Amino acid sequence: MAGFNKMGVILLAASLGFMFLQLCSATRYYDFVLKETNFTRLCSTKSILTVNGSFPGPTIKVHKGETIYVNVHNQGLYGVTIHWHGVKQPRNPWSDGPENITQCPIQPGSSFTYEVVFSNEEGTLWWHAHSDWTRATVHGAIVILPAAGTKYPFAAPHAQHPIILGSWFKSDVMEVINSALATGADPNISDAFTINGQPGDLYSCSKASTYRLKVDYGKTYMLRIINAIMNEEQFFAIANHTLTVVTQDAAYIKPITTSYIMITPGQTMDVLVTANQPRSHYYMASSAYADGIVPFNNSTTTAILQYRGNYSTPSTIPLPSLPIYNDTTAADSFTALLKSLASKAHPISVPTKITTRIYMTIAINERICPNASCAGPDNNAIAASLNNISFETPSIDILQAYYGGINGVFEGNFPSNPPHFYNFTGDYDNSTIYPTFGAKVKFIKYGEGVEIVFQGTNLIAPENHPMHLHGFSFYVIGTGYGNFNATESPKTYNLVDPPEVNTVGVPKNGWTTIRFLADNPGVWFMHCHLERHSSWGMDTVIIVRNGNTTKSKLRPPPAHMPPCSKS
Ligand code: C2O
Ligand code: CU
Repeated sequence: MAGFNKMGVILLAASLGFMFLQLCSATRYYDFVLKETNFTRLCSTKSILTVNGSFPGPTIKVHKGETIYVNVHNQGLYGVTIHWHGVKQPRNPWSDGPENITQCPIQPGSSFTYEVVFSNEEGTLWWHAHSDWTRATVHGAIVILPAAGTKYPFAAPHAQHPIILGSWFKSDVMEVINSALATGADPNISDAFTINGQPGDLYSCSKASTYRLKVDYGKTYMLRIINAIMNEEQFFAIANHTLTVVTQDAAYIKPITTSYIMITPGQTMDVLVTANQPRSHYYMASSAYADGIVPFNNSTTTAILQYRGNYSTPSTIPLPSLPIYNDTTAADSFTALLKSLASKAHPISVPTKITTRIYMTIAINERICPNASCAGPDNNAIAASLNNISFETPSIDILQAYYGGINGVFEGNFPSNPPHFYNFTGDYDNSTIYPTFGAKVKFIKYGEGVEIVFQGTNLIAPENHPMHLHGFSFYVIGTGYGNFNATESPKTYNLVDPPEVNTVGVPKNGWTTIRFLADNPGVWFMHCHLERHSSWGMDTVIIVRNGNTTKSKLRPPPAHMPPCSKS
């Protein structure tokens, strides 16, 4: 009898446990199926790689500090990895995703489960494929709500919607980059920008499917804006409506009231919009901020902010006036407004004791043409570099090589300074046209206060570079034009409320200083988020070594990582 009761208790406990697991599994487990899917845009149909057949892919929704599991099944044609852009993944680079940096690709017919560990991020981030140019079609939003029992530092919006800015290429994106790398020239520009997968009314054959955001008069909406575009920074605005920007890269900022934003590839911004205009239709629109000398997509994507109610559909829908593509003043004056909220509930901690300093030049270079003639500058092939080192991705991942002590995969000698100093933003020095090639990484001790000065250069094709670091967010404490000056520039630093981001636009022929605490052991990719620059080698890897305590050491690898041999 006693035995029966005991059994009953165990059974009851087991079934309660099972119910609990089921409740959790509703939000904490995601299945991503990578597969080719037909989509019709700009009057033609083509097959693109998608997650679960949608473009953009599914939205992930979590609360601050949660952990989720995403099982990625690859039913596509080639190996792919997924990255959780801006998620710090404490001690867990195993699930960070960049191909051959922290893992080998998930081969067709196989799967891999990512454990995505959120910590202090709150706002919007995104996930995207991190293999060649697959991120063009394989990406989606990550919505991070305040933790249970906590609130937004502003009135909660009536509703919220991801607004994902994307690129659409009529041809196959893998062919676009592969043929550019083969000829040594710039890749073809995209054929359209998209808002939530739709080019909008200004492109041919697109009107019927334009994205519409339906709103009720008097209500406030949160637009979670993500720039998932491949190669262009963007201006974004909504006709007749004021935008209030409240977060950047999943960190709260001091609210900015503005008529437009400038957002670089990789960045995210949450914007509040109150539907306080006469009930009607209004365009939201996005077009390029392009300050370089290379071709870019100069078209405009639109969606419609559509009030609910009874009114006659307007014959013309007002378009917002966006700054023109080369309006650097407009871009800079918006960017200058971005400051951390830095409140009691959302404090910041800018490192003041700097023990690792890196001065890093960013450049477009040339590679001696391996064939008779290339289609890049001086009949050479285009390359790109950081400190004049053009990153070459190894054939097995750096994380595995580091963890397992495998030699010959990477070199630990990424320099803390460029090979020599000259007037980086003036006429260029011919000796830096050709970079050194290799997989060179920078080792940093656990717990160091790190300062990096990114220095833009005038080599070949200067422009703004959105520099992105995995595994961390960092404080942008200063920026300016021309060469960084070690005496004068630090006098302008903001250590009080600098923005905390994962991607920062380094101005054309200018510099930007960032700081972070190296408190996340692991192998972390750092690169320009303009995809063509990353493909050309504008990348490096930071390896933060283990500290002395369990909490400051890398977690052990999961039981199964995707194997590196392709067979
Ligand atoms: Cu959003 Cu390494 O990338
Ligand atoms: Cu760049």
